[in-house]
Amino acid sequence: MGFPIERRAEHGVGTHHKRHALLLNGKSQPSRPLGHGYPSAFQCFRTASVAEDAVADAVRSAKFNGYAPTVGILPARRAIAESLSQELPYKLSADNVYLTLGCAQAIEVILAVLARPNANILLSRPGYPYYEARAAYSHLEFRHFDLLPEKGWEVDLDRVEALADENTVVMVIVNPGNPCGNVFTYQHLKKVAETARKLGMLVITDEV
Ligand SMILES: Cc1ncc(COP(=O)(O)O)c(C=O)c1O
Repeated sequence: MGFPIERRAEHGVGTHHKRHALLLNGKSQPSRPLGHGYPSAFQCFRTASVAEDAVADAVRSAKFNGYAPTVGILPARRAIAESLSQELPYKLSADNVYLTLGCAQAIEVILAVLARPNANILLSRPGYPYYEARAAYSHLEFRHFDLLPEKGWEVDLDRVEALADENTVVMVIVNPGNPCGNVFTYQHLKKVAETARKLGMLVITDEV
């Protein structure tokens, strides 16, 4: 098995999202790129020019070369609250928004906060393995519910109910799914929310 170096350059992708098995026993094989969300490799995901200009203007202004508030600057949090509120039956305020440096930091912050003695969390299988690693780091017990391939990788909510107890603080869903690539229907998300409410726990929705 091998991966010609020129193909890596062509796709501009890193180690774990690259094309696999292009050569098997010296023969070229059909392959499926696993980095479809990478804007550098796939130009259809080009960042909007208004966003690019805003970043360039901010850098050139030399007004933002100091430390920003840890939770994110107020105009950004306000803009996110206003944007998200458009689809909600209630209004979010800037204080409801906490900005992090990518999703990995969000996972860091949330699991550190939730890791009280004896607490447990519910994670999907298959899932994104950083959750298990970060939970173990904080001695936070994790339990697995399955995603059901025959139901488009929906959450096995019966299993969620069976796993949860009075020490369960949160369940995590990843949507769009990593690694399965599925997107939950509105109806299924509603059932997830209803189940979590019934069991008295939070839901982390990882939408990276
Ligand atoms: C489901 C999921 N959560 C979190 C992350 C980490 O996101 P970030 O690179 O923004 O820290 C990834 C990255 O691939 C991911 O797929």
